[in-house]
Amino acid sequence: MGQLLSDEQIARYHADGFLAIEGFVGPTACAALRRRAVEIVEEFEPTERRTVFTTNEQDRISDGEFLESSNNIWAFFEEEAFDDDGVLRQDKALSINKIGHAMHDLDDEFGAFSYTADLAAVAADIGMTDALALQSMYIFKQPLIGGEVGCHQDATFLYTDPLTVTGFWFAIEDATLDNGCLWMAPGGHRTGLRKLFKRRGPDYTRTDLGTEFEVLDTTPLPSPDALVPLEATAGTMVILNGLLPHWSDINRSAHSRHAYSLHCISAAAEYPAWNWLQRSAELPLRRLDRSDRASV
Ligand code: FE2
Repeated sequence: MGQLLSDEQIARYHADGFLAIEGFVGPTACAALRRRAVEIVEEFEPTERRTVFTTNEQDRISDGEFLESSNNIWAFFEEEAFDDDGVLRQDKALSINKIGHAMHDLDDEFGAFSYTADLAAVAADIGMTDALALQSMYIFKQPLIGGEVGCHQDATFLYTDPLTVTGFWFAIEDATLDNGCLWMAPGGHRTGLRKLFKRRGPDYTRTDLGTEFEVLDTTPLPSPDALVPLEATAGTMVILNGLLPHWSDINRSAHSRHAYSLHCISAAAEYPAWNWLQRSAELPLRRLDRSDRASV
């Protein structure tokens, strides 16, 4: 596999902790993924207890559906989706915050989008020659109510030793200042990991014990005014180092901001049993370059 990124792009990624590649995905592939995501929401039947997604640490949802979404496809509602009487404020199709977290291994359309030679080549270019596709999320950032994602480092939520988590974020629709584009802390990946998001033990296989944060470094994450916005046209891929602080604002505009994000880790790194995302033996992680395919 030849190098896909230029030397200059690779150097910029390592200097800034992120890199945007415009036009990485064509309009047909974006449209197909968008269609499939909308279809999944249409087919989604919420249970009695509706799962809301929020990254605010005091009320982060860590219920069974969240932990079990490691191995399935679950739709999480926006925080503001329901009124005080528990009735949806807008149509279900406009109320879902995201779907996650195993579409790339359970859904053909998401699989085809995720396991591509180009993406495997990009991963290799930045040093991940043994990338495993760990987690997929389709984020809707709905018009009017699309929730803020507080400033965080992805390695808080997907930890390996050594740290290897890398995000591949795809703009499926244009991401602008109005509809909640990403904001980055250039160079912030050279600062320490602030905290860990862990399953509560001692039996990490249980999904009813909840989760907790462990503080590693009390240095505050940058506030939004210290970040730089990254507007991205549909089809842009953004690579994010797992230590890079990033944030996205609430979407009060009339336009959704669909994005797909795939997080990868190095197969050689240790993946602790206390990470919230745990795959079952029946659904093993696969190599991004599909070199795990059984040879015939
Ligand atoms: Fe993130």
